[in-house]
Amino acid sequence: MAESLTEKIAELKKERNAVILVHNYQIGEVQDVADYTGDSLGLSIEASKTAADVIVFCGVHFMAETAAIISPNKKVIVPDVNAGCPMADMITVEGLKKVKAAHPEAAVVCYVNSGADIKAESDICCTSANVEKIVRSLYDAQEIIFVPDKFLGNYVSTKVRDKKFVLWQGFCPTHVKILPQHIVLAKQKHPEAKVMVHPECRPETIALADEVLSTGGMLKYAKKSHAHCFIVATEIGILYTLKKQNPDKSFYPAFSEAICPNMKLTTLEKVLWSLEDLETPVTVDREIADRARVAISKMLSV
Ligand code: 13P
Ligand code: SF4
Repeated sequence: MAESLTEKIAELKKERNAVILVHNYQIGEVQDVADYTGDSLGLSIEASKTAADVIVFCGVHFMAETAAIISPNKKVIVPDVNAGCPMADMITVEGLKKVKAAHPEAAVVCYVNSGADIKAESDICCTSANVEKIVRSLYDAQEIIFVPDKFLGNYVSTKVRDKKFVLWQGFCPTHVKILPQHIVLAKQKHPEAKVMVHPECRPETIALADEVLSTGGMLKYAKKSHAHCFIVATEIGILYTLKKQNPDKSFYPAFSEAICPNMKLTTLEKVLWSLEDLETPVTVDREIADRARVAISKMLSV
C-alpha cells in the first residue's frame, strides 16, 4: 500500500530531527501533523525551547522569522514562502523612526505581527495573549508608541488608562471584516452563545464580546467554560480545533468569510516538500536579528 502523506511526513521529520509548529488558523490536515499547535505566543515559546535541529513553521512569515531570531542555531523553514501578513507590511522603519523622533520619551511596543526590522526598532514585543501584561510591565513609560495594529493598540489603551498611546494605523484585513452586525445576527440565531472576539477586531465589534481573547485564549476558554455554544469572531481556521477539542459543544463563526488567504497557503504536500528539500529557509540579517531578539526576549521574560 502506498504510504500516506502523513506517514511520509512523520518519517522525514524523524530523519531530519524536525519539529512542526502550526498556527491555529492553518487548515485542519496541517494542524493534524503538528507537534505543537498554538497562538503566536505559544509558538514563540515552543520555538525557543525545542531540541529539534529543524523547525517547520506553518503559519505566516513573521512567525517563522521570530522563531529564527529566537533560535539562531536552528534551521527554520516555511512550506510556502509567499505566506506573509499584510498587517506586518503596513509599517516601515522610516515611518516608525519619525514617530519615535516626535515622541522621544515614549516606549515602543511592537505587536509580534511585524517584520524583524520593526522589532529591532522597538523596546518590547507583545502578542494578543499578553498585550495588557506587557504594557503594564513598562512602569517607567508614561507614553507608549504601539505598532502596527491600531485595533490591538486601541484595545489595550482601554485597559491601561494611566498611559498615553500613540497608535500606528495598521490593521488586519481579515479581522476588520468582522462587523458588529455580524455578532448581532449570530446572537439572534444563538442567543445563549458566549461571544469570543479577537482583539485584532474593530472596537465596535470588541464592544459586543463576552470575552476578548487570543486564539490560544479562545481554546482554553471554550474548554473550561460551562457554556455549550460559542460565537467565534476571528479567522475561521480556529473552528477546526475548537470543534475537535470540544465535540459536545457548538461553535459558530461570527463571519464565515473571515479567512486569511496567507494562512491557507500551506498544504500537507507543501509540508512534505519542505521537509524533503529543507526549503524554504528563513534567515534574518545578523545585526537586525540581534536587536530584534532583545525585544522578543524581553517579552518572553515578562
Ligand atoms: P494569535 O494566534 O496570537 O491570537 O494571533 C492571531 C493572528 O492574527 C496571527 O496572525
Ligand atoms: Fe496577518 Fe491578519 Fe492573517 Fe493574522 S489573520 S496573519 S494578522 S493578515
